[in-house]
Formats: sequence, C-alpha cells, structure tokens
Amino acid sequence: MKNIQELENQYTINTYNRQPGLTPCLVRGEGSYVWDTGDKKYLDFLSGLAVNVLGHCHPAVVSAINEQAQQLIHTSNLYYSGPQAELAEILVENSMPGGKVFLANSGAEANEAAIKLARKNKPGRYKIITFEGSFHGRTLATVTATGQPKYQKPFAPLVEGFSYGIFNDLESVERLVDDQTAGIMIEPIQGEGGVYVADDSFIKGLRSLCDREGILLIFDEVQCGMGRSGKLWAFENYGVMPDLLTAAKGLGGGLPIGAMVVRDKFTDVLQPGDHASTFGGNPVVCSASLAVLRTLLEEGFLTGVEDKGDLLRQELEKIISDHADLGYEYRGRGLICALELKKPEAKNIQGRCTAEGLLINAIGEHILRFLPPLTISKSELEDGLKTIRRIMVEFSA
Ligand SMILES: Cc1ncc(COP(=O)(O)O)c(C=O)c1O
Repeated sequence: MKNIQELENQYTINTYNRQPGLTPCLVRGEGSYVWDTGDKKYLDFLSGLAVNVLGHCHPAVVSAINEQAQQLIHTSNLYYSGPQAELAEILVENSMPGGKVFLANSGAEANEAAIKLARKNKPGRYKIITFEGSFHGRTLATVTATGQPKYQKPFAPLVEGFSYGIFNDLESVERLVDDQTAGIMIEPIQGEGGVYVADDSFIKGLRSLCDREGILLIFDEVQCGMGRSGKLWAFENYGVMPDLLTAAKGLGGGLPIGAMVVRDKFTDVLQPGDHASTFGGNPVVCSASLAVLRTLLEEGFLTGVEDKGDLLRQELEKIISDHADLGYEYRGRGLICALELKKPEAKNIQGRCTAEGLLINAIGEHILRFLPPLTISKSELEDGLKTIRRIMVEFSA
C-alpha cells in the first residue's frame, strides 16, 4: 500500500514542489493548530496562505456549512439564492455601500472579472497598469497582471495591454498612463511579492491620478483584505476608496470563493451575458462566508487583530535587533507581515520551524512571511515567537 505522499507524488502534477520527508501531510485542524498523519501538532502561522482567518474548523463556519449542506448544495445562477443575496448585502454594505458584487471562486477569477469590467467600461481603453513584484493570480490575464517575469516567461505570448509601475513611485505610474489606459490594479499590501505596504501618499496619489484621467482604481485585497491589516479592508487604512475591490482567500473561511465589489458608478458596466461562473455564489460557500464576515464584524474583533499585530511587530523587531547579523527588516500591518533576512536562510529557517511544530512561509531565500489566523491568542503568538527566537539563534553568528 502506498502512503499519501507516494500517491500524491505519483498522481498529482508537481507544481507545488512538496518535499517528501520534509512536507507534512495534514489531517486535522482546530483553532490555531493542525495535526499531521503521525499526530504531530503544529502551530499555524500561515493559515493556509491567509485563508483560515478564523482558524481551523471554527464552530460558526462548520455549522453554517453543515446546515446549508443539508438544505441545498448547488443551484446554478439561473435561480435566485438566499445565501448569495445575504452575502452580497453584507459585503457591499461593509465595503462600498451603493455598490454591487460579482461572486466567483478564487482570487484570480475575481481579478479576471475586474480586468474585464475595466476593459468594458470605456471603449478603446483596454490597458491596465499593475506593479513590479505584484501577484494577481495564475490565469493567463492575471499572470500577465502579476509583475513577476518568473511566473510569466513559459506562457508567452501574454495578454496584451499590461504594464508595470514601480510600487510606491507615483511618477512611474504617471509615465505609463495614456489615452488607452482603462485602470490601475494594485495590492495595498503586496503579499506574495514579499509583504510591501503601500505608502499613504502613494495610494492617495493613485486615487487623484485615476480621478483626473477618468480611469478605474482597482484594489486587489485577495490577501490583505478580510481583516488581516486590522481593518476589514486594507483601503480603510488610507481613507481612499477604490472603484473595484477584489477579495478571496479568507472570504470563504476555507471554502473557495472570490468576489469583485464594484462602486455605485460602475454597477451597470457588466450586463447579462457579459460574465458568469457556474459555481460563483454557491449556497454552501456563501453560507460559510456569511459566518466569517459576521464574526469579523463582531464588536472588538478587528481591534484585537490590530493589538496582536502590534505584538507581532514589536517581537519581530526585537528579534531583528537581537540578531543584527541575520535580521534585516520588519514589514507589514496587522497580521500580515514579513521578516527580511540578510542571509539566504529563509527556506532553512522555515524547514526548522516545521520540524519544531510551527508553520511559517519562506518567500525566496530572504523573506519569512507570517499570516497567522486572526483568531490566534496572544499566548499562542508568543509560543510561536519563542520557537522562531530559538531557531534564529541557530542561524545567527
Ligand atoms: C493578492 C493576490 N491576488 C490574487 C491571488 C490569486 O488568488 P487565487 O490563488 O485564489 O486565484 C493571490 C494568491 O495568492 C493573491 O495573493
């Protein structure tokens, strides 16, 4: 009998570079913890890549899924559906009141919808400006939007009309705008690219530029939205509203969902037949998502995220100053943050953390990324930090 790792290695295409012997097979989760096939327990500082905002198997999410699964699992969008309607209301009223939403199944799909809407908005304007180091997905259009050549090269020719500004450099964007520009798409906090936070003046400058040129400002909050920055949406940190907002990851509490929220002025751009998704707005997924949003919006939840984010920042900054030969800088906001290293040890540190029962993420060889569940307790955070501190000593001179 083959074990799970052997089966996966034989039958799934190896796009994720899992390492036999080093990559655990996870079978159970509760709160901030997961367990592997050998019943080894891990503290999760990764949340399934920013997905499990309420931790693992949160009771509100589990019961929402159970109840809806017993009632009706799928209908198609040929019919009205209660969970979809309720989710649309809570999403719009808590992001861009007066707007509307399109529901999809992933971040890439939400961004595809945004790109299509931006292109249809003004005939002749089809170009989208994104940013170096950005990440917007893996479909052909969204990988083109992603400003990282390593993800694009094998799939050329790419989709026409994308160009890349320099993050936090307004002039670089102004130089790219022309009379065919449809919109600017940006992550207010670049996640996959290494956790870079947009400056206040940069975001405000982009808003003015878009208003002046009559083009759409699109915020990709697939990773930094859903409470991660300490606000429900990262745009709230800037007091600047985008025209289109995309969300996914944490939105479904672990089930696949994507959403594009559209500001009031642009709700009629897409018309019947322009766009669709078989599973978009699926009742089970929407019920889970409703449970997540209702929990995030409970009194005090998001201020708790800010407090825990402050604790994480202070402790990571202390680790950096205690190991000046190894640590370079802290970046982030709330519970999305990174520790950049001077030495190329990120993958090794990640491996040691896994061995010690802590799941973190290495981006390349120099960046450690932390995305713990928003429900994590301060003592769990401190436990994880203790492990990181201990391991940093091993890699420090
Ligand atoms: C900011 C951002 N946008 C889009 C995506 C793509 O989302 P998905 O993998 O759900 O298609 C990601 C995934 O990491 C992301 O971080």
